[in-house]
Amino acid sequence: YNVPSVRPQQMFDYIGQTAVREQLSLSMQAAKMRGEPLDHVLLYGPPGLGKTTLSNIIAQEMGVTLRQTSGPVIEKPGDLAAILTRLEPHDVLFVDEIHRLSPVVEEVLYPAMEDFQIDIVIGEGPAAQSVKIDLPPFTLVGATTRAGLLTSPLRDRFGLVQRLEFYSHDELCQIVQRSASILGMDSELEGALEVARRSRGTPRIANRLLRRVRDYAQVKGDGIITQQIADFALNLLEVDQLGLDKMDLRFLDALVNKFDGGPVGIDSISAALGEERGTIEDVIEPFLVQQGFVIRTSRGRIATNKGYQHLGVEKPEANE
Ligand code: ADE
Repeated sequence: YNVPSVRPQQMFDYIGQTAVREQLSLSMQAAKMRGEPLDHVLLYGPPGLGKTTLSNIIAQEMGVTLRQTSGPVIEKPGDLAAILTRLEPHDVLFVDEIHRLSPVVEEVLYPAMEDFQIDIVIGEGPAAQSVKIDLPPFTLVGATTRAGLLTSPLRDRFGLVQRLEFYSHDELCQIVQRSASILGMDSELEGALEVARRSRGTPRIANRLLRRVRDYAQVKGDGIITQQIADFALNLLEVDQLGLDKMDLRFLDALVNKFDGGPVGIDSISAALGEERGTIEDVIEPFLVQQGFVIRTSRGRIATNKGYQHLGVEKPEANE
């Protein structure tokens, strides 16, 4: 039994992120004309917007093999050396969570990116020797949730730096319709749009919700994704009208009701919710900030009028 993939395999099938697509396509075409590997690419932005998908497409369009790893997995310089020396010329090495590379591993990466060379130390103590090894020219595709998490020497070594944005409802609707068709489902436009509107601007969430709506449509309806079926299914999943899930609402509720709308520091919110600071910053906040429910200031997080309104709470008069 084959699970059909809803992930686009070619740039042609990739919906949204128009600027990113155009810039990458142009540089890929130019690199191919020169017979060179693509310059190193840094993709950053909230989870689920297509960083891994894009790295697959880059390798596919360059006609090379994709090697995938992640920052925390590469523990020692030797681990990275082993990966780099086994690459074929022009291969794409995808390093997810690249901000989590250890400093010693990062040091090895600099000359690898710049000169396709690594210096490794063989032996210990007085017998230790430094050996230079030539690498096949390759493309590093690094992914991270926030570019600001990278050290500047690492960030500066990427020739192409692309920020992924949240998707519009229209783009998500096209993605939902495409996925529904790949999954062999019938969907009405209004049904697909309902899923799109409630997916936090994120294709990964849209595709996950679509599968749950499909379950609902099969069991409670006649298998067709209508707006009403999507609405019932998403209500059952506790995804609200604007796509906020339970964690988003807990966050907003703590900010408004526990901390009087802020300003409050991220660590206080983290303690109140029992949720890791990194998860709040990378997963929960970006969408709430983009939608204008919350603002980040140097004094801490503040709930906006829209944030209060969404919870149905009256905002107290400013008393400063
Ligand atoms: N599935 C997930 N992300 C997608 C995208 N950006 N375009 C098309 N299908 C997708």
